[in-house]
Amino acid sequence: MNVIIKTPEDIEGMRVAGRLAAEVLEMITPHVKAGVTTDELDRLCHDYIVNEQKAIPAPLNYGAAPGRQGFPKSICTSINHVVCHGIPGEKKLKKGDVMNIDVTIIKDGYHGDTSKMFIIGDTQPFNERLVQVTQECLYKAIDLVRPGARLSDIGRVIQAHAHANHFTVVEEYCGHGIGKGFHEDPQVLHYNGYNENNDCILQEGMTFTIEPMINAGKKNTKLLGDGWTAVTKDRRSSAQWEHTLLVTADGVEVLTRRSEENF
Ligand code: MF3
Ligand code: CO
Ligand code: CO
Repeated sequence: MNVIIKTPEDIEGMRVAGRLAAEVLEMITPHVKAGVTTDELDRLCHDYIVNEQKAIPAPLNYGAAPGRQGFPKSICTSINHVVCHGIPGEKKLKKGDVMNIDVTIIKDGYHGDTSKMFIIGDTQPFNERLVQVTQECLYKAIDLVRPGARLSDIGRVIQAHAHANHFTVVEEYCGHGIGKGFHEDPQVLHYNGYNENNDCILQEGMTFTIEPMINAGKKNTKLLGDGWTAVTKDRRSSAQWEHTLLVTADGVEVLTRRSEENF
């Protein structure tokens, strides 16, 4: 494990990147409604990031390798049974859908990564509950971040809250260190999967994401043929919320806080 402790200069860069990522979610929120396509949302976010923020949308072409096409769009849009990494397309949002928009931007070399859920019109009570409990999982985890806490504390509190509400926790995807790299060490598991090799004690100057994916049905996921879209195997709904965090001397700073949130 190679956890990079951020310098004061890095931290300033991460604050700017985090704020910009949060501002993309704030900008897009009034546009998310029935009838809009996820391609239109992608275009609005892309243009805002590139032209207004003078930043880079990190997902675009991410993960390109010989024989593998990179991610084709600038944001991820994950609707209903899509767990994460949904690709924007021509399908229109409809009343009752629940959708995650995940934004990652790069500004002056630093990454800010954040996502939130949107409910289109109203949805069934179990979907509302799933979206709310998943946000509570994130908030409970953020609450215990401080120097001296352990990564495993995060997974424990998320799993306990999800299970107490009869939901399950996705294990195939996790949070991550973040900085000049999009996905740095450590891996941040959202379930009780730690041992002495992958657990670590949180220290001032660490920056990482917490981004629990919580399912209404079984925890298992499946990758679609496009090589990106992860769905629940049982096709029941999944929700996710994500923030980028800084461990401070005495607690945590939520680098991607939106103005609707009071931490
Ligand atoms: N933003 C995602 C995360 O939270 C990663 C998206 S990678 C992509 O780590 F290529 F699918 F965009
Ligand atoms: Co992330
Ligand atoms: Co993300």
